[in-house]
Amino acid sequence: MLDDLLYLSLDDQRKKRISELSVQLLKHYDKTARIFPWRVSPQAAAQGEKPDPYKVWISEIMLQQTRVTTVKEYYEKFITRFPTIRALALAEEDEVLKLWAGLGYYSRARNLHACAKAVAEKHNGFFPATEKELLALPGVGSYTAGAILTIAFQQQAAPADGNIERVFSRLFVIPTAGDALKKTVRSAVAAHIPVERPGDFIQALMDLGSEICTPKKPKCLICPIGALCEARLRGVAEDFPKKKLAKMTQIRTGIMTIIENSAGAVYLRKRENKGLLGGMYEFPFTYSPLDPENIAPLPKTNAEILGEVKHIFTHFTLYLSVRYYRDDAHEIESTGGFFDPADKKNFPPLPKLMRKALHLYENFLRSDRQSLKSMTFTM
Ligand code: ADE
Repeated sequence: MLDDLLYLSLDDQRKKRISELSVQLLKHYDKTARIFPWRVSPQAAAQGEKPDPYKVWISEIMLQQTRVTTVKEYYEKFITRFPTIRALALAEEDEVLKLWAGLGYYSRARNLHACAKAVAEKHNGFFPATEKELLALPGVGSYTAGAILTIAFQQQAAPADGNIERVFSRLFVIPTAGDALKKTVRSAVAAHIPVERPGDFIQALMDLGSEICTPKKPKCLICPIGALCEARLRGVAEDFPKKKLAKMTQIRTGIMTIIENSAGAVYLRKRENKGLLGGMYEFPFTYSPLDPENIAPLPKTNAEILGEVKHIFTHFTLYLSVRYYRDDAHEIESTGGFFDPADKKNFPPLPKLMRKALHLYENFLRSDRQSLKSMTFTM
């Protein structure tokens, strides 16, 4: 079994394989690097262009748990509005959340804003280039710090995302999963990262994991480092990485209320700046286990059940029964208010779960009006 000490006791043949890995991978990357707005191509880098740590950081935060095609669109809008870290530091948090709406994991957006402020205040607007200082910034963990150090500052750190974990688990048929795999892969990356072009090496691994060393049906026949891959040699690439035993999905249920006033506006309130959907607007909702601080108002009379919304969070799946009623006298909390969904300019950005509920409500209104129309027609 491969362990961390293995790299300290390498024989000459193995050392040769290690340098071969970066040589072959970088050769391939020079020909096939994907083009991203935050990336400096190998050709531009050869001409002396340097990556912007601000852009590397934004892209890495956005790419956590979000697909690259979705990120591209959000990234462009974000950078156009906040071209520098100072511009982001000076923004209102609501505007940052608005540009983030739909990307999910809203604590990332709040940390992003807090991190921009910290860099502006404590580091004069420049990202620090040491792991210790990076890790002290809000929302920067060891993966993000490693990605910034390698890609933006050309240092030999060892970030390992899911793609990199898969590539290394196959190269060395690493039999572990979860945190144990992460740890081994980090030391493997540290042992293989070249002195020259460490950032391109990391990005080349990400590209390889996304384009060739894919989770299913890896394209081993065209892999530039296939000759060095133990899993390919044994014909078992698809068996790696080993899977962690699946946890039972936790299911939670609850009720959400959509309250409408006679002007056709709906009641929304802002959630506290922490935890689930922190800082985002919501239709009041309650879910199991009940939080006595955050009970959704229950309909007094005549509530319609609009249907059910389902949303998958990281640690549980939530099913909410959506109720709707009219109430002009609804008590307005300090963070709440009635908003007209047709007034796009002033309607707050909503996270996906709330958009699903809004959809149910709008469909209901449409079908309700339709049935009223057809009643008029037939009368
Ligand atoms: N996934 C995470 N970070 C990435 C990067 N810098 N390039 C491509 N894919 C990524």
